[in-house]
Amino acid sequence: MMPDADYTLLYPPIIQFGWGRRVALASILDRLSGSAPSHVLFVATNTAATNGQLAELERLCPGDHDRLVGIPHDPALDVVASIRDQARQCGANVVVAVGGGSAIDAAKAAAVLTHADGTVDDYFHGRHSIDGPGLPVVALPTTAGTGAEITKNSVLTDTEANVKKSLRSPHMVPFAAIVDPELTVTMPPALTAESGMDALTQAIEAFISLNAHAASSALAAKATRLLLDSLPAAWRDGGDRLARTAVAEGSLLSAMAFSQSGLGAVHGLAHPLGLALNLAHGRTCAILLPHILRWNAPTCDEQLQELATLTGRPSASALTREVEVLCEQLEIPTDFSQHGLHESHEEAILRNCRSGSMKANPRPLTDDDVRALLKTLAGATAANA
Ligand SMILES: [Fe+2]
Repeated sequence: MMPDADYTLLYPPIIQFGWGRRVALASILDRLSGSAPSHVLFVATNTAATNGQLAELERLCPGDHDRLVGIPHDPALDVVASIRDQARQCGANVVVAVGGGSAIDAAKAAAVLTHADGTVDDYFHGRHSIDGPGLPVVALPTTAGTGAEITKNSVLTDTEANVKKSLRSPHMVPFAAIVDPELTVTMPPALTAESGMDALTQAIEAFISLNAHAASSALAAKATRLLLDSLPAAWRDGGDRLARTAVAEGSLLSAMAFSQSGLGAVHGLAHPLGLALNLAHGRTCAILLPHILRWNAPTCDEQLQELATLTGRPSASALTREVEVLCEQLEIPTDFSQHGLHESHEEAILRNCRSGSMKANPRPLTDDDVRALLKTLAGATAANA
């Protein structure tokens, strides 16, 4: 018997999607300011600052604004602290985040903690809890993959403790997400591939998650189809408007799915693996996805068959094979041997992989299973499943 349906959906109050839709920033900032003038802090990557995207968005801002640029990948706690300091100093009452997942995550964490007591470290390590809203965030992603523009978490790294994990709170959901595919056309092919494969991983993991439900699965299936169908074209020709739009929409829908259903073992392993190897999240997920799909296949053949049907593929095995071929086509390596994965990384990865994502994976992995998988991922020839 099927269990009773029982879920809550949590999204930004405003999600705008469409080519050129970034112009909506002006009206959203107007709505946020109400009767008081707003002071906006823009938080952006260097790329957005140098390619003119940030300047264009600043021109849409009706009031005063400051900017903090140069948010690095995998933001550390001190990056969040410096954004928070600047927000306090300039008296910001809105934060606009422009960039990939790292910039948006750092901005979300800083915004929610702007008026909170304690250090960023206190919240990251659970000594303090986030008990109320901070500054409202408007997020404009310039990549199509992470979904940070709508989620309640922020992936941060404590470089001293060597821990990468999420800070989470419902208060971290942005006030508005403006997903404009035109902002993604400047992504080079490798970034298109890696961020797109992150989105595809999120969609597939959401669909087969133990916590999936009707709403998350409908979104995940549509996201999977959009990404499988259009990622190769967006990778080949970054200026292909139709492909860029489909991939950006696939990324948004994948985030709308996984933010409600949770993820799986790819994401459980990706954080400690990426930290150990200093490897970008999307690339880590892309390498892991075919391996984890093969591991999960015996347990969730029925769900994969359903996903195949919903995405117009003939069978679960054809869907799994298509993911492998796509990785090859996008020049994703088949394991982490070229990235230096070694037995010495094993214990740290094991210690830090037991997140909610691992718990939502349909086929459990014991510590011995993870060790065997890591050996395969390091380039050993033994089968992993
Ligand atoms: Fe991800």
